[in-house]
Amino acid sequence: MSLNKNNSEYNKIAKFFHWGFVILFIYGVAKQVDDINQLEDKVFFRFEIIFALIFLFLLIVRFIYMKTTQKTSLPHNAPKLQKISAKIVHNGMYVLLASTVLSGLCIGFLFWIDFKDGLLINFFINIHELIINLLYFFIGIHIIAATYHRLKKDGVWSSMVPILKEKKNK
Ligand code: HEM
Ligand code: HEM
Repeated sequence: MSLNKNNSEYNKIAKFFHWGFVILFIYGVAKQVDDINQLEDKVFFRFEIIFALIFLFLLIVRFIYMKTTQKTSLPHNAPKLQKISAKIVHNGMYVLLASTVLSGLCIGFLFWIDFKDGLLINFFINIHELIINLLYFFIGIHIIAATYHRLKKDGVWSSMVPILKEKKNK
């Protein structure tokens, strides 16, 4: 559990988690529930729940792995505000990813116990949609920040992104 190494490059497992989740998330959004009535289809419903549970499980594994073995690649001398913002955005994405799944599971549970319409389930659907929109916003900031670091050539981009790598200066 050594956390004192300077993370000039995330290891293969960290990159696998990061990019694997990008694909999993895009897939999750692409196959999203467009209409609550789709949940009447038992096979679809079961698939949705299993997908959500696997997603949540892998997210927890990723979170524990990243927090115990990896360090941000922000340079030590980066401004304090930048360090805090990166923490907020990274941890925020974890919270929002987990909340997307949990609010989805709440919708699933309410549907399963026959609360198929009404105030309660609509409340959770609104929360689910609000969380997803917040998540899009955070991901947007994250990608803009990554691009900023690429332009700044401080090594942050190349520590995680396999393409358009900057040349090492040292
Ligand atoms: C669904 C989309 C994405 C999510 C949810 C996401 C999430 C995260 C998280 C949570 C971290 C912190 C390390 C970790 O715990 O894994 C991270 C690091 C990073 N991500 Fe992403 N990411 C996404 C897409 C992207 C994309 C498209 C890019 C590049 C264009 C990118 C570039 C980076 C870089 C450079 C880091 C290292 C930042 C540092 O060490 O401070 N990410 N990402
Ligand atoms: C990884 C898990 C999940 C992801 C990524 C995801 C993604 C999405 C997205 C992108 C939307 C559209 C939001 C919008 O239009 O602003 C949505 C809506 C919705 N999701 Fe999920 N979802 C997940 C889990 C679940 C689960 C487990 C259920 C219930 C079994 C569920 C039920 C719904 C419902 C009912 C809607 C609203 C459909 C409508 O507009 O009538 N979601 N979800």
